[in-house]
Amino acid sequence: MTLLKPPTSARIEEMAQKIRIKVKRQTGTDGPVRWDTFEIPYKTNMNVISALMEVRKKPVTTEGSTVEPPVWDAACLEEVCGSCTMNINGNIRQACSALIDDVAEPMGDVLEVVLEPMQKFPLIRDLSVDRSRMFDNLVKLKAWVPIDGSYDLGMAQAQDDHVRQFRYALSRCMTCGCCMEACPQFSEKTSFVGPAAIGQALLFNLHPVGKTLSDERMAVLTSEEGITNCGNAQNCVKVCPKGVPLTTAIAQLNRDTTVHKVKKWLGIAG
Ligand code: SF4
Ligand code: SF4
Ligand code: FES
Repeated sequence: MTLLKPPTSARIEEMAQKIRIKVKRQTGTDGPVRWDTFEIPYKTNMNVISALMEVRKKPVTTEGSTVEPPVWDAACLEEVCGSCTMNINGNIRQACSALIDDVAEPMGDVLEVVLEPMQKFPLIRDLSVDRSRMFDNLVKLKAWVPIDGSYDLGMAQAQDDHVRQFRYALSRCMTCGCCMEACPQFSEKTSFVGPAAIGQALLFNLHPVGKTLSDERMAVLTSEEGITNCGNAQNCVKVCPKGVPLTTAIAQLNRDTTVHKVKKWLGIAG
C-alpha cells in the first residue's frame, strides 16, 4: 500500500493556481448570515490580510455577484496590536501573520481559506468585532502603575531577576483576545474577566509601585467576575501567540487570593 504524503510548502507553491477565500458575512450579532466565496490568483508569501486586500480591489464572488468588500480590522500588520485576530480555517490567530501557504487547505490547484470573526465578542460586521470588554476588564483590574505627575521618582527599586523575567513574559500580552476565544468560561453569559486580564493583574501586582493597588485588584479577582470562574482547562495558554504564561499566572494568583481572603478575615487587607 502506498501512503500519500501531504504536499510540502514547495509542492504547494508549484501546484497552487488560485486562493479561494470564504468569508462569513453578517452585520451585528443578530443580522442575517451569508457566506461569500472569492477567488484570487495565487502568489507566494501572501498572508490573509493581503489576500483580503486583493478581494477588496474587486469584490466579485465566484457566482459573479459584485458585493460590498468584506470588513476586517488591522493596524500594525506585524502581530503586535492584535486587532486582526479572527478564526482562520477554525483556528484563532492573527490574520496579518497567517501565511496562506501555511494556513490554507490545499484542494487540487486551489488553496482554500475560511474566515470567521471571533465568537466571544459582539460582532460589528463580517470579521470585525467589538473587543471593548477585554479593555474594560483591564480597567477593572487597574492594570497600570499608579504614578501621576512628573516629579522625580528617584531610582527604581531593584527587582529579583526571576520576577523580572516572569513579568517580561506577562508583559508580552497584546490584548488580541485569542485566549478569551478559546476559554470555555469566557462568554457573553458570564462576567469572568478572562485569562489575559488575570495575567496583567499579576504583572502589576509584581511591580514595586504597581503592587500598591494589589488589594483593589484582589477585590475584583475574589469577586464573582474573578479567578474562581477558571476551570483550569488550559486552552488559553495553548492558543496565546505570545507565549504568555497564563496558567502559571492563574495558579499564582489563586494562591495570592487565598492569602488575601485570610488577610481580609483578619481585618488587615484593603
Ligand atoms: S494573553 Fe496571549 S492570547 Fe491572551 S490576549 Fe494576551 S497575547 Fe492574546
Ligand atoms: S485555564 Fe482558566 S482561563 Fe484558561 S482557558 Fe481554562 S478556564 Fe479559561
Ligand atoms: S494587524 Fe496588528 S496584529 Fe495583525
